[in-house]
Amino acid sequence: SRLRGRGVWRYSEAIAGNYKTVVSINEGGTPLIRSKTNENVYYKFEGANPTGSFKDRGMTVAISSAVNEGYKIVVAASTGNTAASAAAYSARAGLKIYLVLPKDKVAVGKLAQSILYGATILEVEGSFDVGMKAVMKLYREMGIVYPLNSFNPWRLEGQKTIAYEITEEIGVPDAVVVPVGNAGNIYAIWKGFTELRNAGLIDKVPRMIGVQAEGASPIARAIAQNLNTPEFTENPETIATAIRIGKPVNWKKALRAIRESQGTAIYVSDSEIVDAQRDLARIEGVGAEPASVASFAGHRKALKEGILSNSDKAVLILTGHALKDPDSMVRSGSRRITTNPDYLEKIILGDLNANS
Ligand code: F0G
Repeated sequence: SRLRGRGVWRYSEAIAGNYKTVVSINEGGTPLIRSKTNENVYYKFEGANPTGSFKDRGMTVAISSAVNEGYKIVVAASTGNTAASAAAYSARAGLKIYLVLPKDKVAVGKLAQSILYGATILEVEGSFDVGMKAVMKLYREMGIVYPLNSFNPWRLEGQKTIAYEITEEIGVPDAVVVPVGNAGNIYAIWKGFTELRNAGLIDKVPRMIGVQAEGASPIARAIAQNLNTPEFTENPETIATAIRIGKPVNWKKALRAIRESQGTAIYVSDSEIVDAQRDLARIEGVGAEPASVASFAGHRKALKEGILSNSDKAVLILTGHALKDPDSMVRSGSRRITTNPDYLEKIILGDLNANS
């Protein structure tokens, strides 16, 4: 087939819709990094996108669609990454953007990005879900405002290219492990693989393994209890603020992706997330934000519980860059010594002696 563009737009023929104007900041085409400790494990490093998260893949398509349909005003509720991405693409497209954020619950890097790109920031009390509901209502009642949340299908069209990139590089893995918040991305990746299979280009779809934070885990609990409709959480709580979501808008799509792929969904505790972030950085040299490393923590847990084995080829989606949440990095702790420059040799020699 005819391939045009780069990154996400390399697959433009597979992206639904017709775009006279494409608003791109060269998103997609992210590194697939092989694990140092298990040759069957790969990290898809979405932190390498222009604003540092996978959201850019969907935003290029959604903003292109908004421009082609003639919208001038866009809006998004967000835990932070959608906000940063939407703000950047809106700036490039010359659109006016309003962001609805949970007050004091957005990591500082993401808030700073939204400020930098010139968005109007509306902070509301309560969780992301409160803002999400308000944006849905606004969109229904005020047709001139274009919504950039993942109930917008164009977002998912862009995000499904994660599946194409993985397949081109290593073929179809046995499992893809994905952090789940509003539950759009796990469906988008599954959709990408399913379309490849339906086109006869691959012979199977990987098991989709969703990972939530324990305090915000309606999807994982619905899978564990075999419910058709999740029990939603009124007050979600986790240090992984990106996935601090109690009522995922795409829950139905996510359950379908998980069940049809013979996958599952699990949750991990905040302390498992903290350990995962530190270990991924210090063992593999890969820095990802707390929500992102839910995939790493979840893979660990899946191995321990026998959901996956070491011989399963698994791709762990690292959804956002560590720089998004500087507080989480500092919390991981390090040896920091205030010293006189003349003491360097003494410190190193002291270490050598202590270790000999
Ligand atoms: N990882 C990161 C870093 C995220 O920012 C998000 C979602 C997810 C995972 C979960 O993806 O919602 O498709 O299941 N962040 C949204 C936001 C909610 O507003 O930035 P999902």
